[in-house]
Amino acid sequence: MKADPTSIPSRHDGPPHPLWLRMTHWLNALAVLIMVMSGWRIYNASPLFDFTFPAGITLGGWLGGALQWHFAGMWLLVINGLVYLCLCLSTGRMARRLFPVTPRGVLADARRALAGHLDHSDPRRYNQVQRAAYLFAILDLVLVVLSGLVVWKSVQFPMLRELFGGYDAARLIHFYGMAAIVAFVAGHATMALLVPRSLLAMLSGGPRPPRSDKEIAP
Ligand code: HEM
Repeated sequence: MKADPTSIPSRHDGPPHPLWLRMTHWLNALAVLIMVMSGWRIYNASPLFDFTFPAGITLGGWLGGALQWHFAGMWLLVINGLVYLCLCLSTGRMARRLFPVTPRGVLADARRALAGHLDHSDPRRYNQVQRAAYLFAILDLVLVVLSGLVVWKSVQFPMLRELFGGYDAARLIHFYGMAAIVAFVAGHATMALLVPRSLLAMLSGGPRPPRSDKEIAP
C-alpha cells in the first residue's frame, strides 16, 4: 500500500504531543473528573430520574460542598479548554491531527480496527475513529459548558436559555452531555490502556523528531 505522506516524520515536526498539549490534556481530565463527581452529588439532591448515584463515587459530601467543587472545577475546565482550543487552532494542530474526517473514512477505520489491522506505530497520526471521537468529546464539552451556564444563570442568559429550549430542556441536555462524556472517557481510557505506547507518548511527549532529514529512514 502507498505510504500516507502525512505519516512520514519530518524534522519540521514537533514531538507528537508538545508540553502544552499534555498539560492541557491532563488538566482537562482532572477538571472533567471534578465536574462529573461533584455533578453527581448535586444531581442526588434533586434527581431528574428515579435513581441516584452512590455517595461513595460523588464529590463534596453534601449539596453545598459539591456546588463549591463544581464552580471551582468549572473555571479550570473553561480556562484550560480555551487555552487548548486557542493553541490547537493557532498552531495548526487541529487541522493536521483531527482532520480530515469523513463518514466513509470513519467506517473504513472502524472495520480495520475490528479486524485488528489498525496501525498504532506513529503517535503523530490519529485514525479516523479517534479523530471523530476527539472532535465529539470537544463539541460535547462545549455543549455541557453552555447548557451548564443556562442551569446556573438562567435569568442572565435568556437567549442561550431559549436556544436550549428552556431551563428544563437545558438541564436534561446537561445530564445527557455528562453521560456522553463519561461513555467517551470509559472507551478512551480503555483504548489508552490497550495501547500503552500511546499513553506513554501522552505522558512523555513521545519519540523525538529526527534532527535532520538525513536521519529519516528512506
Ligand atoms: C477526562 C476526559 C478526557 C478527555 C475529554 C480527553 C480528550 C482527548 C483528546 C481531545 C485527545 C486528542 C488531543 C489532541 O491531539 O489534540 C486525547 C488524546 C489522548 N488521551 Fe485523552 N481525554 C480524556 C481523558 C483521558 C484519560 C483518562 C486517559 C488515559 C487513561 C487519556 C489518554 C489519552 C491518550 C493516550 C491520548 C493520545 C492518543 C494517541 O496518541 O493515540 N485521556 N484525549
